[in-house]
Amino acid sequence: MSEFPLHKVPASFSDAHINAEMYREMYRRSIDEPDAFWAEQAEKFLTWDKPWDTVVEADFLQGKAEWFAGGKLNASVNCIDRHLPQCADQTAFIWEGDDPADSKHITYAELKDSVCKLANVLRERGVKKGDRVCIYMPMIPEAAYAMLACARIGAIHSVVFGGFSPEALKDRILDSDCQVVITADQGLRGGKKVPLKANADAALEHCPDVHTCVVVQRTGGDIDWQDGRDVWYHEATAAASADCEPESMDAEDPLFILYTSGSTGKPKGVLHTTGGYLLQAAMTFKYVFDYREGEVYWCTADVGWVTGHSYIVYGPLANGAISLMFEGVPTYPDAGRCWEVVDKHQVATFYTAPTAIRALHAVGDEPVTRSSRASLRLLGTVGEPINPEAWEWYYQTVGESRCPIVDTWWQTETGAHMITPLPGATDLKPGSASFPMFGVNLALLNEDGSEIEGPGAGYLVVKSPWPSQIRTVYGDHQRLIDTYFSTYPGYYFTGDGASRDEDGYYWITGRVDDVLNVSGHRMGTAEVESALVLHDKIAEAAVVGFPHDIKGQGIYCYVTPMDGVEPSEELRKELIALCVKEIGPIAKPDVIQWAPGLPKTRSGKIMRRILRKIAENELQNLGDTSTLADPSVVDNLIENRAS
Ligand code: WT7
Repeated sequence: MSEFPLHKVPASFSDAHINAEMYREMYRRSIDEPDAFWAEQAEKFLTWDKPWDTVVEADFLQGKAEWFAGGKLNASVNCIDRHLPQCADQTAFIWEGDDPADSKHITYAELKDSVCKLANVLRERGVKKGDRVCIYMPMIPEAAYAMLACARIGAIHSVVFGGFSPEALKDRILDSDCQVVITADQGLRGGKKVPLKANADAALEHCPDVHTCVVVQRTGGDIDWQDGRDVWYHEATAAASADCEPESMDAEDPLFILYTSGSTGKPKGVLHTTGGYLLQAAMTFKYVFDYREGEVYWCTADVGWVTGHSYIVYGPLANGAISLMFEGVPTYPDAGRCWEVVDKHQVATFYTAPTAIRALHAVGDEPVTRSSRASLRLLGTVGEPINPEAWEWYYQTVGESRCPIVDTWWQTETGAHMITPLPGATDLKPGSASFPMFGVNLALLNEDGSEIEGPGAGYLVVKSPWPSQIRTVYGDHQRLIDTYFSTYPGYYFTGDGASRDEDGYYWITGRVDDVLNVSGHRMGTAEVESALVLHDKIAEAAVVGFPHDIKGQGIYCYVTPMDGVEPSEELRKELIALCVKEIGPIAKPDVIQWAPGLPKTRSGKIMRRILRKIAENELQNLGDTSTLADPSVVDNLIENRAS
């Protein structure tokens, strides 16, 4: 931890929104007087139709939290309409297409028209407050219009990442009973077409309740069409009015559902509500990125993940910011793309995932150094721990030792940044997410649930409610309680391990449960296992993560064929294809090892600890194997370890 130097707050951030002294005072107040603190922030950051009655009422044992009860507001009004008097002609989105020749600016006035038109189309198709709408889109402005159009009429959006398979899409549509889907004919990423409409068609074969599929024409490629159900976006919106009365929502009315993976079962529909979510997305955006009016801010995430929700759409727009949306990938046409885009649009803040940094680092400095990057002021990372080597390369080569890096720790469930440096307040330690954000009351717990005081390592938990916390797992509140509020009663359990050093800096070490983080994409080992055992030649499978230079974690599968089935290269290929089909390309296994048997306890529980060690090639360190039903299984796995 200490071999890397501390990076002091640079002089260029001496007039930041938050300096070190302000951080200390505001943090103290946010913990000691949360009601007063959050009431002030809610007045400062949001425009309310009606003020709230109570700031917060929560019960962690029941997994309950209510913020700003009685208050009314509309998220699309907060992101668009209220900026129009001063900023109608200011850019809201810069869209950079997959092809470097493709880009455009969308002003706040244009955004309002597009959002209202689509909102009217949805209303005409019968969508009303509380209905669920699935959004399965490429990274085009219409994805954001769709989210905001739902927000405008009080519909709950459920964005499904465009890289997910028809199977995964179908499961998510059915779980939250979406009756409308918004998609595009095809997506375009790295010069390749993504068959979104064809995928949606395949999913919708099993979703009889979907009555409307709105289709944006992105590539003009050939698609199938179902009359009555399918509607062209451009035709329907051309005929719609550009004014749409917003629905005044209760602060606790749902804003969106976003599916995420856990250690067991199918992905969970994380539900976020309107007031608290929007407030914390807005506040963290301004303070963590020290956002200044007129600056261009670029987050490379996909709107299919929470990062895209909070930090491409809601956080930036609630602040009237200029948010750059990128359709493509960092390596197309070549590894210099990001820095070309930075120069082209004069980007001040660049926010990406460690996996992208590692991949670009691996290609060398030239694609970076041939660009100017003079407009850059601040860098950010999100999604997984960043190794100090990658941090230093990002800092020195990309940022020329001039731009602070905000390493932001948070989760789909937390809605907004939870642990992060503030560029004008925090001296940076490479690899540390540093300190809790305002209102975030953290603890580290020992195995037995006791709190660790001072330096130490343990389970990362949150001790008190925060505005953008998950409200429920859609359709299954008990699952929320079981997953987050039962392990250590009275605390929100993050699923992450962390340590705290002598200066109070937090260092996230990664998941302590059976959740993988592959290139910043979260995946349950159980999901991959379920896909593998769908194959009729497979009896059993156990999946673990292992360290991967670029992806952070790779997917290592131990697979036991049925009796009498000979493992073959062909079977291996079928299994890989099955994971891609069931989940999506992000779930493609890196290693498949044939396992005549899996290490199990006498009660039949698979000992993953041992499987992880073998996958990591830590063969000296297997620990106690005496409780295994058949210890010889381990010798076989070691002997036949796939390298
Ligand atoms: C998990 C949440 C947060 C939006 C993107 C991912 C890991 C996230 C960091 C970070 C170390 C991180 C954690 C967390 N994670 N950010 N800065 N340092 N780990 O959201 O898919 O809900 O995943 O990502 O393990 O629990 P998500």
